[in-house]
Amino acid sequence: MALQQELEELRAQTLDSIKGAASTDALEEVRVGVLGKKGTLTSILRGMRDLPKEERPLVGKMSNEVRDAIEAALEEKKRELSTAELEARMQAGAIDITLPGRSHPIGSQHLITHIIDEVSDIFAGIGYEIEGGREIETDWYNFTALNAPADHPSRSMQDTFYVRDLSGERSNVRGESDVLLRTQTSGVQVHVMEDQDLPIYIIAPGKVYRRDVADPSHLPQFTQCEGLVVDKNITFGDLKGTLEYFCKQMFGPDRKTRFRAHFFPFTEPSAEADVSCGVCGGTGHLHDGERCRMCKGTGWLEILGCGMVDPNVLRMSGIDPEVYSGFAFGVGVERVACLKYNVPDLRMLLEGDMRFLRQF
Ligand code: DAH
Repeated sequence: MALQQELEELRAQTLDSIKGAASTDALEEVRVGVLGKKGTLTSILRGMRDLPKEERPLVGKMSNEVRDAIEAALEEKKRELSTAELEARMQAGAIDITLPGRSHPIGSQHLITHIIDEVSDIFAGIGYEIEGGREIETDWYNFTALNAPADHPSRSMQDTFYVRDLSGERSNVRGESDVLLRTQTSGVQVHVMEDQDLPIYIIAPGKVYRRDVADPSHLPQFTQCEGLVVDKNITFGDLKGTLEYFCKQMFGPDRKTRFRAHFFPFTEPSAEADVSCGVCGGTGHLHDGERCRMCKGTGWLEILGCGMVDPNVLRMSGIDPEVYSGFAFGVGVERVACLKYNVPDLRMLLEGDMRFLRQF
């Protein structure tokens, strides 16, 4: 049982050395000398291979105990020594404890992501499901299946970013691509009507792209939140009630809302909803009398388009308009940023200036 005796001695010696260590460096030396790769305990453990089989469990158990005891003693002594060393350095003036600490800034959600979550929460609360979508679409989903006529201006190269099709497979006879960066989230409506069972109650937030020059109220890439309901007996009253509820939840009861008749190819009838401008308080001008650039002096900002889903659109997606009806809407997320958070210039959302981003 020579090994057992060796272990016993090692334990006693090591605990003594630990007790006697005068610094954390000296302590580390003790640790490496015993537990390191070439340490004494490590080599004793290696020697176990030569023991008769019956003795191994006993010696194994004992060496574990020895190691645990040594590790615990090391830990305790290390704490003691580090505290003493820190104290000594502070006494010697080597550490200026009045210096401010290093801060680790925690990021925050971008305002647009935050608003998407707010909109999603409001609609999830009344039973809507959240849908994803694709940013690269075909002509069919972005325009045709949404009843947009072939000569609709939004289809022109001036308004839409087309994806160059090098394979030639997705081009029309004039060699134009039918693959594009979606200009609206409305194409999700078509995907959902094709893929899902009725009834449908969904919203679909996401990025959209248009060939616009960035200015205070336009960006070439912006964000929309699409909504679609298809069920039996859905009326314009359901649309108005739902969207008024949404506006109240989103902007608070003091903001005014109005609906204006409008036209969209995929809804009939169609409307746009405005909320009173948050930058100028609905007056159309700023404190110094200057015309409010955000609402162009009107006091109102458009936040969403909406309408009853056109029967043609239902039919194209395989839904019988004699049995089902529905409404749809598209909320401009950047518009919400202006209305609710009074962002005076949409370009701020892209500049990455922390003084701006940190406010939300
Ligand atoms: N897609 C429209 C746009 O980008 C917004 C819109 C209007 C969406 C009416 C809708 C809708 O779902 O019913 O201007």
